[in-house]
Amino acid sequence: MEIKNLMVTGGCGFIGSNFIHCLFSQTDFTGRIINVDKLTYAGNPDNLKGIEKDYPDRYIFERADICDLELIENIFSRYRIDAVCHFAAESHVDRSIKNPGAFIYTNIIGTFNLLEAARSHAGDFILFHHISTDEVYGSLGKEGLFKETTPYRPNSPYSAAKASSDHLVRAYGKTYGLPVTISNCSNNYGPYQFPEKLIPLITLNAKDGKKLPVYGDGRNVRDWLYVEDHCDAIWAIMRSGRRGETYNIGGNMEMENIVIVEMVCDILDEITGIGKNGPRRGLITFVKDRPGHDRRYAIDFTKLQSELNWSPEESFESGIRKTISWYLENSEWVQRVRNNEYQSWISEQYGT
Ligand code: NAD
Ligand code: DAU
Repeated sequence: MEIKNLMVTGGCGFIGSNFIHCLFSQTDFTGRIINVDKLTYAGNPDNLKGIEKDYPDRYIFERADICDLELIENIFSRYRIDAVCHFAAESHVDRSIKNPGAFIYTNIIGTFNLLEAARSHAGDFILFHHISTDEVYGSLGKEGLFKETTPYRPNSPYSAAKASSDHLVRAYGKTYGLPVTISNCSNNYGPYQFPEKLIPLITLNAKDGKKLPVYGDGRNVRDWLYVEDHCDAIWAIMRSGRRGETYNIGGNMEMENIVIVEMVCDILDEITGIGKNGPRRGLITFVKDRPGHDRRYAIDFTKLQSELNWSPEESFESGIRKTISWYLENSEWVQRVRNNEYQSWISEQYGT
């Protein structure tokens, strides 16, 4: 059954906006997208500039809070929503340490509301795809990989709220027979990422000659995936993934934070030249560790590879160069998303 009216929640955020670009320009999707976004500090309509003009009959924006069930029900009815791809969330771990409440409301109650709306339109409903994170599995030691069967052990308010939403989605599949799929992905990077996350933050600070805060000893490991590869994987799961199943998505690209930070410094030195203060590595500053900081994430995505023939295409070397160039070339975008109040809290918290 073809999806006609797809609700994308959080479509003005980092991954959601990349997904909408990708769906229109790189897939066989022929339906309409109804982008439902509250436009929090992380939601930026600039990320979708030109989309309304390019796809006047196929793109609709609704500013709405997923915590408002009545409004969500209304959007479901008005647009005859037959599928949901659910990105909307509070997504930043440090913010969840400062202010967990927003994470509980949006990530848990918001997901519950969407599930309720989907359940009441069950007759016509094709799929609820829920976007989640590898952080629900907790932290790994030196060895091992997260599999779909790894028990959940979330360590931050962010990951605990995401874990809770995953359980709700799964439960609606089991209890009410709602057609659901879930994907748990590793760290994304690429264009349109809000510059509070490691790669854009370090890129912009290094460009401007500011300190580069590295938490703890800098040896925490994340698995990195270029955002367009994530979008491809999501569409593959939505099209052909088995209903009721969870799929891990990863980049096969484990890296220590410090290695990434050094790499960004070296690439910027190469592109823009070394200034009078010397190589940018000199800006690296080790700061207080993040409370409850997970040591290592690594993903086993064999299930996605073997069932849906998906593998990441972008290498980290080329993806990081593309990303750095994007931030250098889009200074107006950068200026518009910078948030001073939050930056000063980060300075207090981490002593930078
Ligand atoms: P983001 O913070 O860039 O964007 C979140 C979007 O959700 C924003 O547009 C925001 O306005 C919107 N939003 C927030 N609260 C809302 C609400 N109450 N109602 C409606 N809209 C609301 O996040 P992202 O990095 O693009 O992540 C998207 C999803 O992917 C999240 O669910 C996140 O948990 C998951 N994820 C992210 C990564 C990553 O590396 N960024 C990795 C794995 C999974
Ligand atoms: O693993 C998937 C998750 O990746 C997603 O679910 C989250 O939404 C996304 O924010 C991301 O979480 P992380 O906490 O891993 O990403 P972040 O960019 O905040 O940090 C990456 C690593 O870098 C982490 O070990 C903390 C460290 N770090 C981060 C910042 C912002 C620093 O050392 N210095 C920094 O200034």
